[in-house]
Amino acid sequence: MTTSTQNLTEQVVASFANAENPRLRQVMQSLVRHLHAFALDVELSMAEWEMAIGFLTKTGHMCDDKRQEFILLSDTLGFSMLVDSINHRSIEGATETTVLGPFYVPPLKVSPSESDISGDAAGTPLHVEARVTAPDGQPLAGAWVDVWHSDDDGYYDVQKPGQVENLRARFISDADGRFSFWSIVPVPYPIPTDGPVGKMLEAVGRHPYRPAHVHFMIGKDGYDTLVTHLFIEDDPYLQSDAVFGVKQQLVVHLTDEAGGTTSSGEVRGAHRKITHSFGLRPIA
Ligand SMILES: [Fe+2]
Repeated sequence: MTTSTQNLTEQVVASFANAENPRLRQVMQSLVRHLHAFALDVELSMAEWEMAIGFLTKTGHMCDDKRQEFILLSDTLGFSMLVDSINHRSIEGATETTVLGPFYVPPLKVSPSESDISGDAAGTPLHVEARVTAPDGQPLAGAWVDVWHSDDDGYYDVQKPGQVENLRARFISDADGRFSFWSIVPVPYPIPTDGPVGKMLEAVGRHPYRPAHVHFMIGKDGYDTLVTHLFIEDDPYLQSDAVFGVKQQLVVHLTDEAGGTTSSGEVRGAHRKITHSFGLRPIA
């Protein structure tokens, strides 16, 4: 580092010294130090700087209320999982967290237990029976449980024009902390590759696939809201998730079952089943 670049960095850092908010001051000063150190480390060329500005501009243009390319960028850089791990140290009895992902939409209504959330989506029938508990195993009644996952082609409802709340629902846990639903077994899917993040993955020789999973967001007063997935065992992408979201505790075994009935009385034949317990952590 030359004296002039060091002076420049210190000058920029000092420019934040009078920020009223001490946390904002700390974050901005650290950001500048690391950003400058990065450019010096790789000796960033003008062309590369222009390319980076263009990349970020395209990333912003790709975002709207249904597409979040910046979250995708954060996810594929492992940044989302890093921030997740800083903020959710594991405790015994509490389910581990993972990325929110770019496809969460708050459900419009509460569905009864045993609802089939698959609409007319094709696929292997799936039954999920789950419980929400405190870390000591005590059942938590009245927790809201948002569920969402992709279809048999690997797409979420928000990625398909005209689809509303398919493979997506909210449940409320009963007096014993239980909730259950019917759907289809999700499959591995590529994250959207038609934007700048997809081009970045291609340029560096990375595949865009995520192992098959079901998203869950579970909340109750007095507890941290849990954002997590359940991953399907034996998936070929468990070791190379494009967004680094897999944790071993979240990989589940599916059992083969003979039959069952949905909340609307429809009979289901042979299907696969996930039985699982989610532990919420009390707010410290
Ligand atoms: Fe997902």
